[in-house]
Amino acid sequence: MTAKRVLITGGGRGIGRAAALRFAREGAHVVVAARTSGELDEVVAEIEAAGGKGLAAQMNVTDLGSVEAAVWRATEFTGGPIDVLVNNAGVFDVIPFEKMGHKAWSKMIDVNLTGAYYVTQESLNALEEGERPVIINVASGAAKRGFPGNTAYCASKYGLKGFGDALRLDLAEKGVRVVTVYPGGTDTTIFDDVEGDWDRASMNTVEEVAEVIFGAAAAGDEVTDLDVAPPA
Ligand SMILES: NC(=O)c1ccc[n+]([C@@H]2O[C@H](COP(=O)([O-])OP(=O)(O)OC[C@H]3O[C@@H](n4cnc5c(N)ncnc54)[C@H](OP(=O)(O)O)[C@@H]3O)[C@@H](O)[C@H]2O)c1
Repeated sequence: MTAKRVLITGGGRGIGRAAALRFAREGAHVVVAARTSGELDEVVAEIEAAGGKGLAAQMNVTDLGSVEAAVWRATEFTGGPIDVLVNNAGVFDVIPFEKMGHKAWSKMIDVNLTGAYYVTQESLNALEEGERPVIINVASGAAKRGFPGNTAYCASKYGLKGFGDALRLDLAEKGVRVVTVYPGGTDTTIFDDVEGDWDRASMNTVEEVAEVIFGAAAAGDEVTDLDVAPPA
């Protein structure tokens, strides 16, 4: 079996980093993509230490030119095909609707939803060349129910679920699977600057979410949606 060729957006920290290391433990070739190159370089060193091969590809998922350049670098690294695309880059904020300005709204939709569209569109040819290719979209429990102060976040994540449900139908004939993962609260830096009384100790660990993402890549064709609930 050839080593899996994996592209993970938001791979510099948090869930994306943990997923990168999970694939690396199986000897995968993993491209981590995000804006902060220092974090990507650190993850690449960890990927290599875990037994994989890594590439840092700086990418802003909201900038099509940046996505094009990074996916091109990713395919140079993998030799062309991509087997696993993890659309994980995301931002989160809690803003009551009456205070929700256009800028904050657009940022959430642009990163969490349009970003996944850009990266998927640019990666499609490489995925079609992959072995049992799969697109794994990291949504959220907020893709299934509303939370106060989350109009933009919920809209982006419900949107990502809808994107995946329709994309699955469009790509079925090409043999590209689409799986949506719905993590509950997970202890990462995403909460660092967000107001709220977050009980981070009771949340999922990034390793628990990474295991589900890893499992999604190996799952049967019937698997389309996977929850990751924090322990009760
Ligand atoms: N933590 C949770 O409780 C939770 C629960 C459900 C779902 N999720 C989802 O899981 C995903 C990962 O979240 P996390 O908790 O691991 O957050 P995190 O620790 O803040 O990591 C987010 C990652 O996304 C990248 N990113 C943000 N904006 C980007 C952009 N414009 N272009 C490229 N990369 C960008 C960040 O890198 P740069 O800033 O360097 O670009 C970082 O690598 C997100 O989609 C989030 O919505 C998280």
